[in-house]
Amino acid sequence: MANIKFFGGQTIPVEMHRVRVVQKLHLIPARERLRKLREACNNLYMLQNEDIFMDMLTDSGVNAMSDDQLASMMNADDAYAGSRTFSELKAKVTELFGMEHFLPAHQGRACENILGQAYVTPGSFVPMNYHFTTTKAHVTRNGGTVVELVAPGGETVQGTAPFKGNMDPDALKKLIREKGADRIAFVRMEAGANLIGGQPVSLQNFREIGDICKQHGVLYVMDASLLQDNLYFNKVREPECQDMSIRDIMRAICDCFDIIYFSARKLGFARGGGIATRTLAQWDHMKELVTLNEGFLTYGGMSVKEMAAITVGLEETMDMDIISQGPLFIAYMVDQLVKRGIPVVTPAGGLGCHVDARAFVPQIPGEQYPSAALVAAMYLAGGVRAMERGTLSEDRNPDGSEHIASMELARFAVPRRVFTVSQLDYVVDRIAWLYEQRDIIGGLKFVEEPKTLRFFVGKLETLSPWQDELVDRFERDFGKDN
Ligand SMILES: Cc1ncc(COP(=O)(O)O)c(C=O)c1O
Repeated sequence: MANIKFFGGQTIPVEMHRVRVVQKLHLIPARERLRKLREACNNLYMLQNEDIFMDMLTDSGVNAMSDDQLASMMNADDAYAGSRTFSELKAKVTELFGMEHFLPAHQGRACENILGQAYVTPGSFVPMNYHFTTTKAHVTRNGGTVVELVAPGGETVQGTAPFKGNMDPDALKKLIREKGADRIAFVRMEAGANLIGGQPVSLQNFREIGDICKQHGVLYVMDASLLQDNLYFNKVREPECQDMSIRDIMRAICDCFDIIYFSARKLGFARGGGIATRTLAQWDHMKELVTLNEGFLTYGGMSVKEMAAITVGLEETMDMDIISQGPLFIAYMVDQLVKRGIPVVTPAGGLGCHVDARAFVPQIPGEQYPSAALVAAMYLAGGVRAMERGTLSEDRNPDGSEHIASMELARFAVPRRVFTVSQLDYVVDRIAWLYEQRDIIGGLKFVEEPKTLRFFVGKLETLSPWQDELVDRFERDFGKDN
């Protein structure tokens, strides 16, 4: 990917690939979108793909594959046990991560399930730079407590720090002192911290936290699901990494860790996951959880075709032209929104563009789910499906009160190699229109609320008829066909 300077003066991210396979999109009119939104009970996960124009829900499992990945899938070795395709994947993981042992799993949360059962005990603590929804659920399910130790500034919406995903080393030392190293199940570092805007961690911070873990004999685990974007930011923002190849940066990061797990729905441009371990003892400790929950040790719930694609995808992750596409598109979108005065997380991170719902719709209190209301409004405004990443994505406190999220974000994910700049311009235009109408947007309440990970399948309704008013305004400005 290259940020290319145009004769007209502007710089535009130009794709370093061409598109060979396309999927038809549909843009149903706003009034129809309102009907579909109501059928989906204001939960965008419940929408049908055919009713969505720009699907920016996630970057998970929806990245475009390369010709080499597709070709490799035709040649996969479809054996239940002893598949050559698994050996090739394991060899690639060993080569890039520098870890000898590998357990396959069907996706990221399956790895978290295994790690949670293997290492989290009742009363233990899992410090992390920032939680992810499924990670936290698996830690608490096993009786542990998540402790977030993101460095100061990480949760500031408009920041300037290049590595807002860093962990605070002093806070970690204090926690270990207070709780005792034996009560720390493991320290988890999330590359490209998802819920604070895909914000990266510096190589220096990965190392510093690793040194503390070593000193205290605490297991150090990386969630590498978003490592691809993190590598790009290490390369362009960290002086130490500027002259290193992506392969060398990857290895320097991985060398800090005892265990690395990942969702290959993100890292590797395919669908699957796995856990790499430094020692055979760690592998042994977890292997039965794979055969019990996932599948045999040479596929772990993944299709062999996907394993072949991950192997190629991991190698492609070492190519700066390939991994810069996502971050450059996101930076483009962030810049366009900043120019229009719309509150977004800065500096631009990985995985998507994050709009600050607290500033966009300040009239909606946290208990009425501002980011959920904003993403619902965005679907009405443009057929765009974004993801709520705020209070609705948190489960309630044990006493039943709302856990108000520290950041209330509407995430417009930019799946890799999927969209074009003109499509991003469309989304920016509709966000800008919505910003002008922001006073209309009102809150939501649950009518059906699951206990765990309620954002996936919970049902909501509006607290006032604000959505009808928004659609009336849309038809006034754009007509009935848009
Ligand atoms: C940082 C992080 N960890 C874990 C997961 C869970 O992965 P999966 O969706 O493959 O279960 C995700 C998914 O979005 C993620 O972003």
